[in-house]
Amino acid sequence: MIIDYKDVNDLNRYKIMSDTVIPRPIAWIVTEDEGVINAAPFSYFVPLSSNPALVIVSIGQKEEGIPKDTLANILKHKKATICFVNKDNTKDVKLCATMLDKNKSEVEKYEIDVQKPLEDYPSMISSTQSALFCDFYQKVDIPGKTTPIILEIKKQFIEDGRLDEKSHVHIENIGRSGAFFKAMVDL
Ligand SMILES: Cc1cc2nc3c(=O)[nH]c(=O)nc-3n(C[C@H](O)[C@H](O)[C@H](O)COP(=O)(O)O)c2cc1C
Repeated sequence: MIIDYKDVNDLNRYKIMSDTVIPRPIAWIVTEDEGVINAAPFSYFVPLSSNPALVIVSIGQKEEGIPKDTLANILKHKKATICFVNKDNTKDVKLCATMLDKNKSEVEKYEIDVQKPLEDYPSMISSTQSALFCDFYQKVDIPGKTTPIILEIKKQFIEDGRLDEKSHVHIENIGRSGAFFKAMVDL
């Protein structure tokens, strides 16, 4: 069958796209504002270019006209730390998808351990195997309620023992597949 996207409502279009474009990496984004550490997962997330080192993430609204906290913080402070998800922290990342008030921290509420290896970037989830320390690069204007944001990777954390002598990184990411979390397998 051929589905004509103009005949599909927004929710079903979201379901069809997110069940089809799989697996998607998950950006577990940490931002900070007025001492509140915000952490939330986003899977409309892809690399765009290695030089400059850019990724793009699309962030929706909390409610009509109110951006999600992550988007508001990135636009205000121009900084984000993107952590990758592995099988040991999947439970925590799911908790971080809960919508909290702007002045409430997911990290505090769910007692998620963070550390701050770089003073000028938001904290990093301690259990991540790799994290990207990013600067805001550009907002992409599209119609609708989602705002794509391009971020430039300035520095990267890689857990000890995961970067080999040929600059290959060995991490075990969990991805998003429809509504599910899936681990990668070697073929
Ligand atoms: C695995 C996963 C992926 C998600 N991907 C996105 C996404 O790409 N864009 C988006 O706006 N929300 C996405 N969400 C929902 C946000 O994580 C959720 O709305 C969160 O509460 C936003 O938090 P914030 O207001 O602190 O930024 C995703 C949720 C999960 C569990």
